[in-house]
Amino acid sequence: MPTSSATGHGTGDPVPARSRPSPALSGRVRVPGDKSVSHRALILGALSRGETHIRGLLEGEDVLNTAKAVGQLGAQVERLGDGEWRVKGVGVGGFRAPDAPLDFGNSGTGVRLMMGAVAGNPIAATFDGDASLRKRPMRRVLDPLVTMGVEVVDAAEGGRLPLRMQGLADLSAFTYETPVPSAQVKSAVLLAGLAASGETVVKEREATRDHTERMLAHFGAELKVEPFGTHGRTITLPGRPDLVGAPVVVPSDPSSAGFPLVAAVIVPGSDIIIADMMMNPLRIGLLTTLKEMGANIEILAERTEGGEAVADIRVRHSRLRGVEVPAERAPSMIDEYPVLAVAAAFAEGRTIMRGLAELRVKESDRLAAVADGIAACGIPHEVVGDDLIVEGSPVVPGGGPVATHMDHRIAMAFLVLGLATRDGVAIDDTTFIATSFPTFMPMMRGLGAVID
Ligand code: S3P
Repeated sequence: MPTSSATGHGTGDPVPARSRPSPALSGRVRVPGDKSVSHRALILGALSRGETHIRGLLEGEDVLNTAKAVGQLGAQVERLGDGEWRVKGVGVGGFRAPDAPLDFGNSGTGVRLMMGAVAGNPIAATFDGDASLRKRPMRRVLDPLVTMGVEVVDAAEGGRLPLRMQGLADLSAFTYETPVPSAQVKSAVLLAGLAASGETVVKEREATRDHTERMLAHFGAELKVEPFGTHGRTITLPGRPDLVGAPVVVPSDPSSAGFPLVAAVIVPGSDIIIADMMMNPLRIGLLTTLKEMGANIEILAERTEGGEAVADIRVRHSRLRGVEVPAERAPSMIDEYPVLAVAAAFAEGRTIMRGLAELRVKESDRLAAVADGIAACGIPHEVVGDDLIVEGSPVVPGGGPVATHMDHRIAMAFLVLGLATRDGVAIDDTTFIATSFPTFMPMMRGLGAVID
């Protein structure tokens, strides 16, 4: 397999930073558009007939790579203004063969969803990404797609990127129970199922984020969602729907909001408002957990916008206590564990976070990266199997340098930690923050955070 060098992050020099003990944070902020919804708006726009007008698209590196990829496959993608984009789609099965590899940079969501979207087209495409993405498992998506009829022409060891896949126009619909709780796997199978002639059924034991299902319905698919087991869902998607372009308003990303939110909880005297945060119940496990820990969080002005619940969140500095976070909550806060570990460092007593196996296959091995980072900052902790246990204390030393391993959320979580430590926290690289939250630094500084 030719290992064409992936563009994007990882090619430039690292840019280290240090966050310092900060005065009370104050102000009102709005974090950028949701990453999951942004990817899906571009992909479903490309798979629909007609025009999709998107407002509030996250213009981070990950999403921009997806925009480029759907353009290489024949959709017309145009930036009209700040966060405002138009996609002219080609319809289900209408992608043309790209003449260069599709490069997803750092984004697991981009590459895995697009493998599903490409599967139902009679074209071959090469998928690639940066050094972090090349380490991540792709078999979880390839296995069901191969059952549906896709051929993996070539792949790096273990079915990893770079890989070349041959799709086909007439995929076989099937019933698939996802072996891991992953919205990316579920979504890839559903997107492939659009091109199958029968009903594609995905069963998940733990309900994961449902933006694909919501948006498919918004674009005209007639899918059915039913309960499965105690915490799960069965999604049934009849194939070959007539998807028609539709307007999409992207709500603010609750995963990005987690960083200013925890910062305000741990920095003494803080009082901030995070406006227009998406409150999809499958995304707000961090809010639930922080409230259980005693955080002073008020949910204001709850409303529905663009088909998703949103609210303004008022957060004040709070005295936290340690809690046990059950494994079944993990899918609703899977990207928030690094910043939850930061909150736990300041809680009275121990916080036990259970069932974190999936953290090992994120942009980095996040379980190891969080454990090593908090160790470098003098925070007592233990990893037992897939559980992380953090012993909190009112005075956290800080230190570093924390190794961020090409992982935006490790970088942001440890910069947040430094704001309430005795000595501040140094991290080795901030460049990957641009993948999901390009305005993180100015926004945090605007609230009063001292980061240099
Ligand atoms: C995402 C799903 C999650 C999450 C990722 C975004 C999505 O990954 O970690 O940041 O948009 O579907 P998994 O589905 O692999 O858990």
